[in-house]
Amino acid sequence: MKVDYKKSISGNLVCILLAEGEKPPKDLAGHNVKFEGKEGQSFPLSSGKRNILLVGLGKKNGDIFRIAAGACIRHAEKIKEKEVSVYYPKADEKSAEAIAEGAVLAAYRFNRYKTKKENSEVSKLHLVAQKDLGKALRRGEILAGAQNYSRALDEEPANIATPTMIANAARKLAKEKKLKITVFDVKAMKKMGMNAIIGVGQGSATPPVLVKLEYNAGSKYPLFCVVGKGITFDSGGISIKPSKGMHEMKYDKSGAMNVLGVFKAVSELRLPIRLMGLMPLAENTPGSRAQKPGDIVRAYNGKTIEVLNTDAEGRLILADALSYAAVKKPEYMIDMATLTGAIVVCLGRHAIGMFSDDDKLAKALIKAGEETHERVWRLPLWPEYGKMMESNIADLKNISELPEAGSITAAAFLKEFAGGTKWAHLDIASVEAVGPEHGYLGKGASGIGVRLVTETFEKLAKSK
Ligand code: BES
Ligand code: ZN
Ligand code: ZN
Repeated sequence: MKVDYKKSISGNLVCILLAEGEKPPKDLAGHNVKFEGKEGQSFPLSSGKRNILLVGLGKKNGDIFRIAAGACIRHAEKIKEKEVSVYYPKADEKSAEAIAEGAVLAAYRFNRYKTKKENSEVSKLHLVAQKDLGKALRRGEILAGAQNYSRALDEEPANIATPTMIANAARKLAKEKKLKITVFDVKAMKKMGMNAIIGVGQGSATPPVLVKLEYNAGSKYPLFCVVGKGITFDSGGISIKPSKGMHEMKYDKSGAMNVLGVFKAVSELRLPIRLMGLMPLAENTPGSRAQKPGDIVRAYNGKTIEVLNTDAEGRLILADALSYAAVKKPEYMIDMATLTGAIVVCLGRHAIGMFSDDDKLAKALIKAGEETHERVWRLPLWPEYGKMMESNIADLKNISELPEAGSITAAAFLKEFAGGTKWAHLDIASVEAVGPEHGYLGKGASGIGVRLVTETFEKLAKSK
């Protein structure tokens, strides 16, 4: 899918974007069209040999330009047009970027396992506007392209996307984008004392790995860090999950796939930062060597953890990864993880749970969340919640044993491993996979978090 700027309309399909109260241009849509331009409203008509779609922008709030661009793509698919002109003379940098994002995200298809491919992909969108917005469109293309890349990897099933396969995908990205990559296998992790990752992965026939990626725009730039939970399948382990909906646990690697997406976006945008990325990757299955409830492991930072529930495994692999990252003293560190079912209960499907002790970082995330429409909602991280994670016989336990504040206690556990770094935790379990009703993201892996974290890093770099 390519997006570009055009001075005038081309192709057989023109989508005209109209805010509330705006009239369609008469030469395009004729005289007697009644269209109010309400949000979500669209109206197909034809003039001569051209197909026209009127698309309402309402009051131009929130996510509307991405939704409108998504509607244009869906309509093009429906009438089997491969090319669409979007007529919006008033477009500016912000709306152009959002239009490009909405279009690229809506045109995404995951069809590699379909023997018979439907040939309905829309391949071109031209934005017709008064000023040349090529640069803003390119930026939107990069960000949404990175999100689609994360989605496609996340969609891969667990028999294909093993920790080793994901490490290979990271190697491929590193080669393309000239990133530094280090892959720690079980032997290396044992030597370093990363027993929490090893414990989670030891029940599986496919071994765990820790992948480190590094992007460097120059030594004068600040060092940031992004960490992502990469459970390639979460059966729960010995504390096994119910079978209903268990197939969705292939998405338990979303955080790590988003890390790859962030690296793709950051390197293509050439952000003026240094970035370290960590992806602890493991499959959580109940083999004969599997970790058992009650086992105690010592994490990279020396703290001991009593594993009372093997299904609370995300926080275990993150414990090693976060404490490793903290030693490198990044200025800011953000992790993304499909960490708790409780965050879905708390926020539904419309917000990411955010936890941070650092107000500047939290504010940057909230702002970037509004701009990308990958919205975050901050929850408390007070010491009282940390107390709930103290074990009788080890330093920490991995669940609180009380049916309350499940997402917050998980975050409070992670905090023990962030080593005082300015850090934020994003619980993305609420947004990682999308139902079919969403405006521009189809059913399946969403890649939500890629644009959010990339833009947050950009903001933090600017405010230095
Ligand atoms: N991967 C799950 C969290 C999850 C649940 C993600 C639903 C997406 C949808 C995580 O590893 C997990 O199993 N968490 C447990 C924690 C509990 C044992 C304290 C949960 O949420 O039930
Ligand atoms: Zn789990
Ligand atoms: Zn999990």
